[in-house]
Amino acid sequence: MKTYTNILLHIENGILTISVNRPDKLNALNQETIQEIGDAVKTAERDPAIAGIILTGVGAKAFIAGADISEFSSYSIEQGQALSAAGHEVFNSVERCTKPVIAAVNGFALGGGCELAMACHLRIASDNAKFGQPEVKLGLIPGYAGTQRLVQLIGKGKALELLMTADMIGAEEAHRLGLVNYVVPQDQLMAKTLELMSKITAQSPRAIAGIVRCVDAFYKEGVDGFQFEIEEFGRCFGTDDFKEGVSAFLEKRKANFVRS
Ligand code: COA
Repeated sequence: MKTYTNILLHIENGILTISVNRPDKLNALNQETIQEIGDAVKTAERDPAIAGIILTGVGAKAFIAGADISEFSSYSIEQGQALSAAGHEVFNSVERCTKPVIAAVNGFALGGGCELAMACHLRIASDNAKFGQPEVKLGLIPGYAGTQRLVQLIGKGKALELLMTADMIGAEEAHRLGLVNYVVPQDQLMAKTLELMSKITAQSPRAIAGIVRCVDAFYKEGVDGFQFEIEEFGRCFGTDDFKEGVSAFLEKRKANFVRS
């Protein structure tokens, strides 16, 4: 397994856990860390031994406390745009990953941390987690799609409030708003995440990939998601997973989907 400077990788039972490992900086995302996350996700997506990916942060205090402010303090307009574009590319690749990606949010998820959690397919928060987009305090706006994905997840009115006030919200409030799927005590975070992950990875991997592509199509400019679903649905009938899933149902047994 490849080793990285700012992230730790752990594989168990086909699940890759990527932990951002800069606890002294509350796991703030410098550009190298973002590139490493992108590389690890792409590599895992191609690896048939990996069924799903969990993203989390090292330590009990922070998931990710945002982009690394010290890195961009003297950036020009052009450098700011390049920083944002590179982040968008990686976060899009997380969102479009055809294997399930779950954020286990173990503490502060601010700025780029909240944005990375939102790029994941699902989010589970520990009860100490805090979410927010505090960029306006710095004279900035979110640069890793926070203005887009927060609206998608919690709706325009509340998204605008969080984006404009820089308010931090707790895990329960994030749950109430639909920003996270579950809230659990911190010592149960990984167990709950793995439980949810195993429910998903027991399903057809090709169908899960189709779900990711179809849901993504809903948000794509110029793509008719309804038509996209018709085509994707049809393609399922040509897969081994379909043969196995239907045979298992008719034979009253559990389906055994093979990854390739
Ligand atoms: N970028 C760079 N360094 C960061 C950081 C960030 N986004 N967030 C935290 N750190 C660093 C701090 O500078 C500090 O480093 P130091 O010990 O070398 O001084 C260390 O992490 C611990 O943070 P600290 O602020 O002392 O912890 P705290 O418990 O008092 O406060 C936060 C926690 C999350 C409220 C506070 O760190 C914070 O507001 N961070 C910035 C959040 C933000 O604006 N994110 C969006 C960036 S675009």
